[in-house]
Amino acid sequence: MIKVGLLGCGTVGSGVVELLDKNLETISRRMGDLIELTRVVDQDLDKCRALGIEESKLSSNFDDILYDDEIDIVVELIGGIEPALTFIMKAMEQGKHVVTANKDLIAEKGKELFDMAQAHKVDFYFEASVAGGIPIIYPLKQSLAGNRIQEVIGILNGTTNYILSKMSEEGHSFEDVLREAQELGYAEADPSADIDGLDAGRKIAILASIAFNSRVTVDDVYVEGISKITPSDIKFARELGFVIKLLAVAKQAEDGSIQARVHPAFLPYKHPLAAVNDVYNAVFVRGDAVGEIMHYGRGAGKLPTASSVVGDIIDIGRNIVYKANSRISCTCYEDKPILDVSQLKTQFYIRMTVKDRPGVLAGIAGVFGSNNVSLATVLQTTHGGEMAELILITHQVEERDLNDSLAVLKGMHIVGNIDNVIRLEGMDIM
Ligand code: NDP
Ligand code: HSE
Repeated sequence: MIKVGLLGCGTVGSGVVELLDKNLETISRRMGDLIELTRVVDQDLDKCRALGIEESKLSSNFDDILYDDEIDIVVELIGGIEPALTFIMKAMEQGKHVVTANKDLIAEKGKELFDMAQAHKVDFYFEASVAGGIPIIYPLKQSLAGNRIQEVIGILNGTTNYILSKMSEEGHSFEDVLREAQELGYAEADPSADIDGLDAGRKIAILASIAFNSRVTVDDVYVEGISKITPSDIKFARELGFVIKLLAVAKQAEDGSIQARVHPAFLPYKHPLAAVNDVYNAVFVRGDAVGEIMHYGRGAGKLPTASSVVGDIIDIGRNIVYKANSRISCTCYEDKPILDVSQLKTQFYIRMTVKDRPGVLAGIAGVFGSNNVSLATVLQTTHGGEMAELILITHQVEERDLNDSLAVLKGMHIVGNIDNVIRLEGMDIM
């Protein structure tokens, strides 16, 4: 009998309880042994009672899981850094295997956690921490292990994907759609981690570390959110054959250097990620053997996330049955350089307001030219006044060259405003 202790009866915890109950027989057969949820801890026990858990299994004391010698696997689903970190560390010290969905913790304290798991020869699994119900961590560690992974590009935040999809479909402003997302319960009451890109930043740090076998922390990820995207940018993107998505991008160059960034991007319609809408998530992976693949599905929610957590429990259960725990430990055995975003070469979309008079376009093109920025597309729209809107797409340029050009342009009397600058991504798919 494999015995499981659960910490947290919230959204994901309640899904785990439901799934372990509903599919108990199948799960036990697949795992090769019986499985029982023996202890459930939460600070609000009424939540656990509402799930129909027997009173004798409930506790509000972590120690009732930590020091119960019969519990083999502990599942942490309270979220946040503390007390989750201390709980997991102590559980590992007690020789217990751990499953978590806590992306904040893995992205910030991954090294400490993996070192502890290795020291105590226990399993530490976290499939649900990235893209909820979509299997991506196990495939990267296991099924794709024969590849050199070149890039991982994800739509890893459901809230922002919902907002951008609705802005695109209905032409509403960012503020209006954000309010709608909050009313529907997609966005948090404080949605800043979603909107500002930090949630996706944590998730791509985890995926990059696994894909490239080198530790990438959330501080290594360049992060930009979606609040600057306007209906105007979405309209021009469509006219030019793109959609705007909040992308989490991790790439490895031939020399092993890594880039990791989260920002809104113009993505060509033909790119597989361009069709990922609403709250859905997807992860596009390119490997030297497999080529391009995409994993698509629900990145959050009670049962989709529980699906990943229970999958981890079953895998650890099998390891226990076959005495094969600690088989897949930390895969960050290299220390590769991480590039600063200013060193990257990218194509850009630039929207600016300029004076509508002879010689202005030539003056602006001249500034770009003298800073090594080559223009691929130029569009101008006028509204009958003295100002015109200028839309530019550059060829691949170094970010620092683009920034130098923009600094000069901002000081010129013919330039009213640089309204937006957005990177292009996925151009190799076109
Ligand atoms: P919830 O807030 O719904 O549930 C957390 C539960 O833990 C609540 O019952 C909470 O009680 C309880 N809790 C919090 N702190 C403590 C504590 N110190 N001691 C005891 N109990 C505590 O969170 P979710 O289920 O949504 O998320 C759980 C984890 O899964 C997080 O790490 C999250 O990032 C991750 N995740 C969530 C997804 C989702 O779709 N929800 C998707 C992917 C990952 P109280 O309500 O009183 O605070
Ligand atoms: N807030 C996250 C999202 C939840 O919107 O994707 C899943 O991690």
